[in-house]
Amino acid sequence: MIKIDFSNLMQNSIGKNGLVSDDFDSIDIKKINESLTQRKYPELEFLDLHKADTSQIKEIGKYAAGFENFILLGIGGSALGPRSIMDSLRPFHNFKNKPRVFIYDNVDPMTLKNILDIADLKNTVVNVITKSGSTAETIASFMIIRQKLKEQSLKAEDHMIVTTDPEKGNLRKIVNDYGLRSLSVPQGVGGRYSVLSAVGLLLAEAIGIDSDEMLKGAKDIHDKCMNQDLRRNPAYMFASGLYLMQQLKNKNITVIMPYADRLKSFSEWFCQLWAESLGKEGRGLTPYPSVGTTDQHSQLQLWMEGPEDKVVVFLSVEDYGADMEIPAVFQDMEGLSYLSGHTLGELIKIEQEASEIALTKNGRPSITIKVPKIDAYHLGQLFHFFEISTAVTGLLYGINPFNQPGVEEGKNLTYGMMGKKGYEDRKREFESYRQRNPLSL
Ligand code: PA5
Repeated sequence: MIKIDFSNLMQNSIGKNGLVSDDFDSIDIKKINESLTQRKYPELEFLDLHKADTSQIKEIGKYAAGFENFILLGIGGSALGPRSIMDSLRPFHNFKNKPRVFIYDNVDPMTLKNILDIADLKNTVVNVITKSGSTAETIASFMIIRQKLKEQSLKAEDHMIVTTDPEKGNLRKIVNDYGLRSLSVPQGVGGRYSVLSAVGLLLAEAIGIDSDEMLKGAKDIHDKCMNQDLRRNPAYMFASGLYLMQQLKNKNITVIMPYADRLKSFSEWFCQLWAESLGKEGRGLTPYPSVGTTDQHSQLQLWMEGPEDKVVVFLSVEDYGADMEIPAVFQDMEGLSYLSGHTLGELIKIEQEASEIALTKNGRPSITIKVPKIDAYHLGQLFHFFEISTAVTGLLYGINPFNQPGVEEGKNLTYGMMGKKGYEDRKREFESYRQRNPLSL
């Protein structure tokens, strides 16, 4: 199991910047327990994803695995989750294996051109993921690829798999009207909480990852995270620790720092989850993605001596699954020879601990999540742990951790300018804004 060490949040470790045990008494944990058990929000359905039957995902995954290329169209939760599964569990996949995977989220036209230059649609399966069925970026790229399939007399029924709401939305209608292969995202599961649904698991299966193993990991951590005793529940401790750190000590920034290249995309997945769930009504915590040891040479200086506004969440890995000894060369040079006989695994682990100790000595708080191994089982645990922790943090702030009202205005203005019916006033507003005298040099 993953294990979370909270000691570097506490006063006896980091001094006056730390919390004391009594601080946690202010948390109304009974209310949190009730919100979870009574499913205060329908979107808490993500808590049940680990119980799902994956047979349909496996069957369609097998079908997708038979292609040369797998293009995933989706954005936000519909892209970050699948990407972090692939990068964590199948690094360098495209150099070694089929299907080659291309995740197209941003609507940068050059990216799509490059993908289509490489991936011959004849040998390609396209997984369109949109829970709502209305996200402009995803729909636009879906329309383009659908047309290109048509131009090449290729059938969408053979080359497309749609992952969307079981009943509602444009994509579900298209699935029904045109008989496309499809998978459902349970109605109560929102985008950024959907990685352990068909959203992430289809790609997993297509590239040979056992989705049941991920769900098993999620199930095992789930039981721990449902413990009603705050001090025995890692998700409650994580949520309350970071919440109290902000309320009492003004730590507004959550740095997530895995010591593994494979978890870089995972830290980006976390940032979306944390930012979009918590940033509302003037509240929230700002996430910052980082990777050790790389960002020790980029960010660590700021965390050590800059504004005292951060908590660093380390992800330390026990077994990297590979190691390499540093050979006994250049033995006459002291500046190099001290490394000989050690391994890269040893070096990266020592560096993680060294950063943790250095921050602690400087009174800067951190949390360390110990990950035994980066495999499907433990990745499932990490996803589920962070999702529960995020939902609980939102509940502590008294905000709805499942909506994203702040992104609607930009969407509406875009709809107006792109000519969507009913958004004419937004178009006028957009144009009048453009008429302002810009202060640009
Ligand atoms: O977390 C969310 O709900 C969002 O980030 C969505 O994942 C994102 O906006 C994409 O939405 P959809 O899957 O409906 O296309």
